[in-house]
Amino acid sequence: MKFEHRTDDVGDGVGRLPPERMQLQLQVNGQPHRLEVDTRTTLLDALRENLCMTGTKKGCDHGQCGACTVLVEGRRINACLTLAVMHEGQSVITIEGMAQGETLHPLQQAFLERDGFQCGYCTPGQICSAAGMLAEAKAGMPSHITRDLGASVTLTDAEIRERMSGNLCRCSAYPNIVAAIKDVAGAEARP
Ligand code: FES
Ligand code: FES
Repeated sequence: MKFEHRTDDVGDGVGRLPPERMQLQLQVNGQPHRLEVDTRTTLLDALRENLCMTGTKKGCDHGQCGACTVLVEGRRINACLTLAVMHEGQSVITIEGMAQGETLHPLQQAFLERDGFQCGYCTPGQICSAAGMLAEAKAGMPSHITRDLGASVTLTDAEIRERMSGNLCRCSAYPNIVAAIKDVAGAEARP
C-alpha cells in the first residue's frame, strides 16, 4: 500500500485538505487487481467504479439494505460501509465470482429453481449473504433467535429469516429466497 502525498496541493484556501490517493491491491474473485483510489472510496465504489464490476449493487449506500453484500476473507460484509483501503491484499468474492465457469453456484441454481427473485436487484447481495450465512451456521455461530447456544445450528425458516434479515427485497420474494437457501442448507447437511 502506498500513500501519495502531493506537494502541489495546498487545499481549498479555507482549511480543508485536498483528497489523498492511495494505491492498493485487492484479490477479487481470485484475480489480483491493483488500483489507485481516493482514500474515501468505499469498497462498493471501488468494485463498481474502479474495477467495473457492477454485479454488486448499490441500494441505500447506508448499510441498510444489503444489496452490496460481498465476501471479504470469507465473511459477508456490506461493501458500502467499508473503505477500500482497509482491505489491502485481502480476498473479495463478488457475485461475479460465485459460479465456476459455466457451472452455477448451488445458491444461484437454487434461486433459479425456487424463483427466488423478481427484479433481481437485491439478488447478488442475497446470494453472497446466503453463502456467508451458511458458512457462519456451519461454524456454529448463533443468531439472535438461537435458543440453545450449545447445540449445532439448525437452519429453520425462522433462523434463515433472522440470519438474512440484513438483506431487504423490495419485490418481497422472501418466501422463495428462504426456500432456495433451505434447499442448499439441506443439500450441504446431507452426508
Ligand atoms: Fe450497502 Fe444498502 S447499498 S447496505
Ligand atoms: Fe427485486 Fe429483490 S427481487 S428487490
